[in-house]
Amino acid sequence: MTKNQPIGIFDSGIGGLTVAKAISDLLPNEQLIYFGDTAHFPFGDKSEEAVKSYAEGIATFLLQQNCKAIVVACNTASALAESYLSAFLPKDVLLIDVIQPVAAFLNSSTFRRVGVIATKGTIGANVYPQKINALNPDIDVLSLATPLLAPMIEEAFFNNSISQSVINQYLSQDVLKNIDALVLGCTHYPLIETEVQQYYQQSGQVVAIVNSAKVVALAVQNQLLQLSLLSTNKTVNHHFYVSDYTDSFEKSTKVFFGNQLKLEKQNIWEG
Ligand code: DGL
Repeated sequence: MTKNQPIGIFDSGIGGLTVAKAISDLLPNEQLIYFGDTAHFPFGDKSEEAVKSYAEGIATFLLQQNCKAIVVACNTASALAESYLSAFLPKDVLLIDVIQPVAAFLNSSTFRRVGVIATKGTIGANVYPQKINALNPDIDVLSLATPLLAPMIEEAFFNNSISQSVINQYLSQDVLKNIDALVLGCTHYPLIETEVQQYYQQSGQVVAIVNSAKVVALAVQNQLLQLSLLSTNKTVNHHFYVSDYTDSFEKSTKVFFGNQLKLEKQNIWEG
């Protein structure tokens, strides 16, 4: 691997852009190749076999783009397909998921009752409690599947009274009572972070919101540094691919990357 090869990043849709943006802010010399598998969105309701096969197809595409590292910017794929991908990828390609860096962050924090909201796939796989408790058995992890949120966000349907009511409905569940931190365990959720904060402010609870995007970007920086693979590029030309074109994807990508963005349709699933 060489320093100036790109970093591949993928998700089922726009969620991974929250991670891509954090990486591009922290590491502006890195070229990013983003793949949003919009043809298969949402991953959160799919079987483990399906998510593994999507992840393998996307990783194969990113390897063809000569990526030195692959960031699984999707909690569902991190939960269901990370070990599969790690066995599948060549050993010199750095693989970074979005769950392990959050577990390490929580271990270094003082939080001891931590809520996690995520897709059904992520919660069902139980990977957050496993990874957090492997580092620190004293942290109570309280998990709640919130399957309506990612489709709502992918459609850019938030910051309105209906989204606030769906969010309130989920966050007021008993399982999340008396938490001191809430992990946004889906990369789509940073887009509703303000609404989540509003819920806690209005209900008078002090809960820290853990948004994994920055934590993951720092993990990418540390691991590339350790391998002497941080880029020295002076200018970078990111690429954003989707497996199926959607208007809402294009709008959301512009919010993050403005005019830098040219959306390219790449159906890796056909012929
Ligand atoms: N952004 C994804 C995650 O972090 C997946 C949402 C979905 O496709 O269901 O889990």
